[in-house]
Amino acid sequence: MKETKRLQEIPLAGIRKVFEKAKKLEAQGKKIIHLEIGRPDFDTPAPIKAEAIQALKDGFVHYTSNYGMDELREVVAEKLRQENNLDYGAAEVIITAGASMGIAAAILGLVEVGDEVLIPAPAYPAYRKQVKLAGATPIEVPLELLDDFRINIEELERKYSQNTKMLIINTPHNPTGTLLDSENLKEIAEFVRSRDIMVLSDECYENITFGNNTHHSIAEFPGMKENSVVVNSTSKSFSMTGWRIGFLASSQAVIDSVIKVPQNISICPTSFAQSGAIKAYREGKQLIRGMLEVFAKRKEIVVNTLERIPDFGYVEPGGALYVFPEVTKTGLSSQEFSDYLLEEAGIAVTPGDDFGEAGRGFIRIAFTCCTEDLKEAMVKLEEAVRILN
Ligand SMILES: Cc1ncc(COP(=O)(O)O)c(C=O)c1O
Repeated sequence: MKETKRLQEIPLAGIRKVFEKAKKLEAQGKKIIHLEIGRPDFDTPAPIKAEAIQALKDGFVHYTSNYGMDELREVVAEKLRQENNLDYGAAEVIITAGASMGIAAAILGLVEVGDEVLIPAPAYPAYRKQVKLAGATPIEVPLELLDDFRINIEELERKYSQNTKMLIINTPHNPTGTLLDSENLKEIAEFVRSRDIMVLSDECYENITFGNNTHHSIAEFPGMKENSVVVNSTSKSFSMTGWRIGFLASSQAVIDSVIKVPQNISICPTSFAQSGAIKAYREGKQLIRGMLEVFAKRKEIVVNTLERIPDFGYVEPGGALYVFPEVTKTGLSSQEFSDYLLEEAGIAVTPGDDFGEAGRGFIRIAFTCCTEDLKEAMVKLEEAVRILN
């Protein structure tokens, strides 16, 4: 079998190497604490599960509309109005198989072969891979630790060219945990509108924020509906990664066009999972309070440890499930440091360069294992860095 050129362009994720090494060590009987997994470790709240179970019992097992269930589209439009100050009608929402299908629909639907897509990076790796699959060119716009990983407009301007078609932003951010504030979003909105490009805004960590940080969407700004595609999902917000339900919201013209992507690839999202998602968007916020408190505590545990390691630079995350410290002062590369942690301390993390060139010299710590294991891992991490010195 000869792999297609298209797939040769997108190597398997480096995280797989960590995962495979970790599995080997586990097979030898070694305890590995997994801080590389990018998903909540909680069960989906019971009332959401009950809704999907009932739908199955009721025989709700056939295709739904390509756009998703009308009731769910209504509920999502209402959620966008109430929680996000965004004015979309149900007809301007497509229910997708996770945020992933929304991202694919936006990229395949709006980016031509040969176009360029600006991706502030480090970034969720699927963005650049999906852009390549679409025959377009991902252009990294570096995010700097010293800048608190905010998007620098001058950098955007430097990387912009006549071929730029889209900018992809993500807030709260994987892997840095940064939340884009209104001021930064406003500047980005001006940049996007003045050049008449599209912004794809991935807001899938929206519910996971810490302290006084609140999530804002770039689509809030005047006139941005025409220039933005908002994607979101139940995956992280309600611990429903396996359910594969998300949504895309945009102007009617975009919806009418990009629907052809999910229509011809996945037809529709899973019917009974959509029933569960209705419950999640109606009542889910009350149901995840406990989970959010645990994530906030775990974030503190990681940050308090990093604070004691002078070799590490980091930014305290405002949301999402990650901290992204710089490890260059240890003298090791991201991969070497990740290997060292795995072999010497039994801790699996993701090398930062998995998230693009700009992640070189960093690691991503996901606080998605149980709190006791996380505490143990942080003691071992501190010790492992001390031994290196
Ligand atoms: C930034 C970001 N976007 C999208 C996804 C995929 O989300 P979904 O499960 O909704 O497809 C992930 C998963 O890790 C992510 O981190």
